[in-house]
Amino acid sequence: MTTRIPTASDASTAQAPRTWNHWIRLFHRWLSIAFTVAVIANVVAMAKGSTVVWVGFLALIPLAMLLFSGLYLFVLPYAHKWRGGRRTD
Ligand code: HEM
Repeated sequence: MTTRIPTASDASTAQAPRTWNHWIRLFHRWLSIAFTVAVIANVVAMAKGSTVVWVGFLALIPLAMLLFSGLYLFVLPYAHKWRGGRRTD
């Protein structure tokens, strides 16, 4: 029995590179913080009796982006199956 010394190419196949999917996941994660901050700003504005409309839209923008990036993340595991088990992340 021979012992094979690991090569650099082994490492690159064992550990997935930082892919497009990774950045979408990161985008979704940080958008969730932006959305949370916007919701808090909304609650504070409402508590002060503010009728400024743009504070409301402030939360809608990250929410819309969360929806699209979230749907993308949702589809990923199924896309993985459709592609015959090839990794999607
Ligand atoms: C608007 C519709 C949204 C959809 C369709 C959606 C969908 C998803 C999906 C499919 C995942 C991946 C789950 C997995 O690991 O397989 C995910 C992760 C996550 N979502 Fe959402 N999401 C939405 C909104 C939100 C909101 C409003 C928040 C918080 C304010 C949020 C916070 C997160 C976080 C923190 C993760 C984990 C990200 C990571 O793995 O680093 N999402 N979401």
